[in-house]
Amino acid sequence: MARFFLTILYALVLQSVVGQKIISIESSKFALVMQTDDLNRLHHIYLGEKLSHPDEYSKISKSLLYNGNNEDVFNNAYTPSGTWNIAEPALQITHSDGNPSTELEYVSHNIIRMSDNVYLTTILLTDPVYKTEVNLFFKVYQNENTFEQWTSIENKEPQKIELKKFASANLYLRNNDFFLTQFHGSWAEEMQPETHSLTHGMKVLDSKLGTRAHLYAPPTFMLSMDGVSTEETGKVLLANLAWSGNYKFEFEKDRYDNLRLIAGANSYGSEYQLNPQEQFETPHFIYTYSENGRGEASRNMHSWARKYRIYDGEGERLTLLNNWEATYFNFNEEKLVGLFGGAKDLGVDLFLLDDGWFANKYPRNSDRSGLGDWTENKAKLPNGLGYLVSEASKIGIKFGIWIEPEMVNPKSELYENHQDWVIRQPDRKEYYYRNQLVLDLSNPEVQDYVYGIFDTIFTKNPEIAYVKWDCNAVVYNAYSDYLHNKGLPQSHLYIDYVKGLYAILEKVRKNYPKVPIMLCSGGGGRVDYGALQYFTEFWVSDNTAPIDRVFMQWNDSYFYPSIAMSAHVTNWDQKSSIKFRTDVASMGKLGFDIVVDELGEKDKLFCQEAVKNYDSFSNIIWHGDLFRLQSPYEKPFACFQYVDKEKDRSIVFSYLVSDRFQTMYSAEPVKLQGLDPIQNYTVKETNLYPGTRTRIDEKVIYSGEYLMKIGFNPEVSARRNSVVLEITAVTN
Ligand code: DGJ
Repeated sequence: MARFFLTILYALVLQSVVGQKIISIESSKFALVMQTDDLNRLHHIYLGEKLSHPDEYSKISKSLLYNGNNEDVFNNAYTPSGTWNIAEPALQITHSDGNPSTELEYVSHNIIRMSDNVYLTTILLTDPVYKTEVNLFFKVYQNENTFEQWTSIENKEPQKIELKKFASANLYLRNNDFFLTQFHGSWAEEMQPETHSLTHGMKVLDSKLGTRAHLYAPPTFMLSMDGVSTEETGKVLLANLAWSGNYKFEFEKDRYDNLRLIAGANSYGSEYQLNPQEQFETPHFIYTYSENGRGEASRNMHSWARKYRIYDGEGERLTLLNNWEATYFNFNEEKLVGLFGGAKDLGVDLFLLDDGWFANKYPRNSDRSGLGDWTENKAKLPNGLGYLVSEASKIGIKFGIWIEPEMVNPKSELYENHQDWVIRQPDRKEYYYRNQLVLDLSNPEVQDYVYGIFDTIFTKNPEIAYVKWDCNAVVYNAYSDYLHNKGLPQSHLYIDYVKGLYAILEKVRKNYPKVPIMLCSGGGGRVDYGALQYFTEFWVSDNTAPIDRVFMQWNDSYFYPSIAMSAHVTNWDQKSSIKFRTDVASMGKLGFDIVVDELGEKDKLFCQEAVKNYDSFSNIIWHGDLFRLQSPYEKPFACFQYVDKEKDRSIVFSYLVSDRFQTMYSAEPVKLQGLDPIQNYTVKETNLYPGTRTRIDEKVIYSGEYLMKIGFNPEVSARRNSVVLEITAVTN
């Protein structure tokens, strides 16, 4: 509290001394500092580790010789367009009289203490000519060193205005160099990183897919400064746009070698009109900064996400058996009930029924038909879902269900009856993604319909314990009948789709607060911190080959904690041992998608033991700290370590990711992290395949200091390509 008053006092003192205002927004380690100039415009002057003497921030601007003799300014806190700005703007408005210029002047700011840990700074800027108001919001999570930044724009003019660009955040970074790590992919190949130095000019990352941006390029990046960061060293900013639609990140290295970063919803095809007094709130841009490398930055973001963002992020999760790869669309009631025993046998909590259970006129027997017609298929499930729920409950497991409520197959009753609910061009050929089209969630009637799908399933079967919410199509044919009939511009569609989706999910969460829901998207996860406020977990990829997953989960783990990563053991890659597949899946939220009765005796025994082991250590995976010890990009060997908050237990996963030389790759011990140096620990191998013996001497006791300074050799080799170690503090 004292700190809060100090911050306000400090801002006031500086105003009176220098006549220009300094706004410093600080977390426990990191500061973002802005200052007004003599024209009352607000500029960034610092982003980095905070100074011990905040009064020294007032000295910074004197050394920033940014605008020389000319008018150009690059470090504006929210760059308008059409006046002095000659760089990429954050905001572009066509005013009610058609004038495309905007100027923003500082008016006031205030800081609200939302809790001991969370402070919200709001800065009001206005256009002196047009009176349009812009509020910049900075929510700071002190201990997690995480910032959440967004903007609202309010039309104070007598007539409509049009927003042509409306960024969430505009930052300015000064450093010697900048290295961007971006991610790209495609179905089953998601989250592939590329790191490169940013040169002068613009670099843009964006999505125009409408939905599931993650398919090609997720709304997330890592920016290293003064050299490429490592896990333990370097300045790094990790960022995510909390928005499940089109996004755009712009990186502009300017003539002073500094970096302007503009992040927000993509304005592509999305000019947005505001009536007088209407407000537009942008998506929230989430970022964390560390000068101790990516590992610390990720742990910041994970702690923030578990505590403040992911639905039930600090809660528990259910292990499950899914039938997608086990049956695809080919099942009936008897076959499904037959699989339930497998779930019980494995010891998981739940059976998850996937795609194919619905539609009658056009049965959902393939991905070509039935999507949209959410009544049980009578031929497959003559006794409905209720029967399955009760059969599952008889043998003591829970039951979950797959839906894909935002989409429709043209071959469906929904499409026949409600073409007006579908995003499609009225007079053109339709283009499909996985044989389907997207429903028009800008339409409140369609929002009600989609909510109704969820609600009806639960009203009829309140015991359903889990939902997998899939989303396979992208937005082709972008056109909304609803917007047309309402006289609203088509350019509202991409934004209003996401707002509509969030409105549905709000209602789902209000009425069904307890149900775990997986965010799925034909692999690829469709994951971002906008969606995750409603979902307990996301599906990383349809690709469950363990080696591919080691890489993908490594990359996802920069941004998302393991509690949110659904990882299943499947037969996608049968060349890999069941142990390797299960060990990798145990680094996330464990599930299986196999026919348990088809497992060999030893494989089944292994899986049963692995589920028990997972139950014993999942608390550490879900709620502990992650240390990425060895990157699979640097050696043919990867190593991940999870440590509980008390530093009493740790689980270390080590994998051989290439067997080119068939040797023992981890000949060097791996230095562990996050332990207590003065505590003693035992090291035990777990998840051993039946009949194999460990190479580890489990009687030896090591100090935390030893394990962190000298390290431990998991002895991974071609014959031991997946090793799980349990490190336990010795209690006297
Ligand atoms: C895509 C998902 O990623 C799969 O797991 C499965 O649910 C299919 N959709 C079903 O159509």
